Amino acid sequence: MNLSQKSAKKSSADLDVAGIKKDFPILATKMNGKPLVYLDSAATSQKPIQVISAITKYYREYNANIHRGVYKISEMATEAYTDSKRKLANFIGANSIEEIVYVRNTTEAINLVALSWGDANVQKGDHILISEMEHHSNIVPWQILAKKKGAVLDYIKLDKDKAGLSEKSIAEQLEKRPAIVAITHVSNVLGSINDVKDLTKKAKKVGALVLVDGAQSAPHMPVNVKDIGCDFFALSGHKMLAPTGIGALYGKKDVLNSMPPLFGGGDMIKSVEFYSYTPNDLPWKFEAGTSNIEGGIGLGAAIDYLNSVGMSKIREHEKRLTLYGLEKLSKIKNVELFGYQKKGIEKRGGVISFSIKGIHPHDVAAVFDSYGIAIRAGHHCAMPLVKGIFKEGALSRISFYLYNEEKDVDAAVEAIYAVKKIFKVR
Ligand code: ALA
Repeated sequence: MNLSQKSAKKSSADLDVAGIKKDFPILATKMNGKPLVYLDSAATSQKPIQVISAITKYYREYNANIHRGVYKISEMATEAYTDSKRKLANFIGANSIEEIVYVRNTTEAINLVALSWGDANVQKGDHILISEMEHHSNIVPWQILAKKKGAVLDYIKLDKDKAGLSEKSIAEQLEKRPAIVAITHVSNVLGSINDVKDLTKKAKKVGALVLVDGAQSAPHMPVNVKDIGCDFFALSGHKMLAPTGIGALYGKKDVLNSMPPLFGGGDMIKSVEFYSYTPNDLPWKFEAGTSNIEGGIGLGAAIDYLNSVGMSKIREHEKRLTLYGLEKLSKIKNVELFGYQKKGIEKRGGVISFSIKGIHPHDVAAVFDSYGIAIRAGHHCAMPLVKGIFKEGALSRISFYLYNEEKDVDAAVEAIYAVKKIFKVR
């Protein structure tokens, strides 16, 4: 039995993908007349019927504003929204819902930290440390802050294989004693899993705060913020089976307590006078206006779904699919792969970026589309990284989730051969 057959066998034994797929109505639809093969979960995940139903139930049965009504359906909505925070706190190992601030997405969570904590704490000449592997969402907020404050933005370099972060560069940069280190847990381009626990330990020794961008980790593997030891952890609901427009910032209670509110009005208020106000307690202090109630309820249902499958199982499943994909794609002539390869699978999430020699990724994605296969093409919102690993600055990417299976990889392989045939690449 070769590796591919073995991984296929194990995968079907561990995760009931056929059963899971039945929960995702969109996966039974067609795209361009072909059964939809969805390989773009790093961009956004599909939604199970359980999440769709939870949102529908809210609108059909107890739609009301939260924290405002002294009547049954408002209390029901408040309880469902708050319960979703309890679920998320448990899911990522936070102490309590006081440490869970709901925002729109990972980007907003990081901006909240840069604008609130950063504005209050970063001084002229301070160092802010990020890495060459970051998504724009974990670059631009720090560029804005550095410019405003006269701070210095530094980058941890990629290692020589352009797969992980250079240990030497980490050590050199930490000598500058940065005020904050903001780092991605899993790269959305390379799939590389950074050892954020170790980095946090090192950063703490030089007195830095640590923010982890968990957009690509929280949906795909067990995460425990206390074990990591970070001060902030940011995630997006839409990448983990929940609706768009809901995300979360985890922050250590004492750090969040020390930060000024960012927006004024609505839920962030305890009391207001004509010329002053008292902010609400955590986490509401950072949630101005009416919250995204349906989003919170949807995220709660998504977490229930992920827990019912099991995050360790999801991680193992994606690891096997990635291994299978790397094995298949590495055999195709004139296809270049990026990041850790098969030997480095423990340090790699379910993302495979590739290029086909001489063919623009948009053309690749268009051919995939005609086969009913959804993939991402371009700079992946990480222009400095993509340009750094591939001179054309654009790549094609397939990414996996719990509803993918080996035959989706096989479909991608077939599409690559079709692309090569159309564009006459040997
Ligand atoms: N950051 C998302 C991606 O990698 C949108 O596709």
